[in-house]
Amino acid sequence: ISRNRIDMEKFPVWRGIGAGSGIGGGWSQGWGRRLARIPVFDYPVWLVRCRGGRARLIEVCQRGRGAIRLPTDMLSIKLPQLFDIHQVPKVFREDSIISGYRHPRSSALDCVLSSFQMTNETVNIWTHFLPTWYFLWRFSVLCSTLNFMTDSYTWPLLVYMLLICIYPFTSSCAHTFSSMSPESRHICYFFDYGALSLYSLGCAVSYGYYVIPDSWVNSWLQQHFVTIAIGNTLFCTSLSCYSRFLELQFPQRSKVLRTGAFVFPFIFDTTPLFYRLLLCCGGSCSPSDALSSHCYHLLFAFLTCFLFTAHLPERLAPGRFDYFGHSHQLFHVSAVLGTNFQMEAVITDMMSRRAALLAHGAMPSFLGTIGVLVISLFLNLGIIGIFSAPLLWKPFHSSNQVFVCWRPGSKAI
Ligand SMILES: *[C@@H]1O[C@H](CO)[C@@H](O)[C@H](O)[C@H]1NC(C)=O
Ligand SMILES: [Zn+2]
Repeated sequence: ISRNRIDMEKFPVWRGIGAGSGIGGGWSQGWGRRLARIPVFDYPVWLVRCRGGRARLIEVCQRGRGAIRLPTDMLSIKLPQLFDIHQVPKVFREDSIISGYRHPRSSALDCVLSSFQMTNETVNIWTHFLPTWYFLWRFSVLCSTLNFMTDSYTWPLLVYMLLICIYPFTSSCAHTFSSMSPESRHICYFFDYGALSLYSLGCAVSYGYYVIPDSWVNSWLQQHFVTIAIGNTLFCTSLSCYSRFLELQFPQRSKVLRTGAFVFPFIFDTTPLFYRLLLCCGGSCSPSDALSSHCYHLLFAFLTCFLFTAHLPERLAPGRFDYFGHSHQLFHVSAVLGTNFQMEAVITDMMSRRAALLAHGAMPSFLGTIGVLVISLFLNLGIIGIFSAPLLWKPFHSSNQVFVCWRPGSKAI
């Protein structure tokens, strides 16, 4: 209780509308509060005319003017207040990011609005939200040029394209809603990790069919590539979710585990590509467009990993990069650029190697592509559910209690 009281004193401003009533209640209450009551005309127009009351008309006009002045009221919506690192509970703190923290009990509406306000997360939100639309656009163009419905050769690409649209979207949602409560923060990032690990499955599916070296077609590895990748997503999601629980006590260990959780599937997925590049270095291949795009992707993948682990540049100048340019934003940008190169490479390989791949190998099956996606989606959701359940139960017994009871005007506890 004493810890909670301290937290409360640190947040004298109550703005977490959604905290007490859950997401749904918060939304409607929030709108009610923000949009000041609009003075509607009490009298129907015909009534004013009938009675011919000039005074009435003037009154109505004045009211109308009042109503017109309303937008200025509405525009002066108070932007949620921001906090410094020492004002927020420890779970929310980010190394070397000093300011720009949102209220740790923001409502869902506040979270959405905060994406238009400059906070430490704003650029993180947009650097994955806009690319979502870019990838969706690329996907829709492919839909009109390829025959995803009946041509089973395109299904691995279909799975890949779906997943590269999902992961940036999930991530931007996670960054948007992570400041509703400590529990929501964990759950948001569980989904973020789940989407990333499914993305690694998308890579495996597309690499296993299109990028694999000619000599590996129909090998044991190709036949089991996707199955192993499903195992990897389960491992990756579980380990990265688990790493969140270690974060406060063992930040170093948590970071190592989480990085490992994502690097391991990446290395597995990329083995066919590494082997192809190795053959190329040995001089037994024709350098193609696809290979150069693959190399750019690898370059960005390494940069992404570096940014994730190094916390540069903010570590060099804590507080300088709170809003623009901190490592997580660069990490997002580099991940998206890498994905874009990877997408180009996969599409090029898919288009140009069709004959060669189908000469020896089998057509991708429905179960091996879309089936795999659906199965792993549910398995990963299950893992996220298992990790989220204790967080969803806990608040009713402990920390949340004080926040729920405390409202401005009510007696402080
Ligand atoms: C930004 O602030 C939020 C709290 O609103 C915190 O949870 C998060 O870790 C911070 N993010 C970054 C990238 O600094
Ligand atoms: Zn992120």
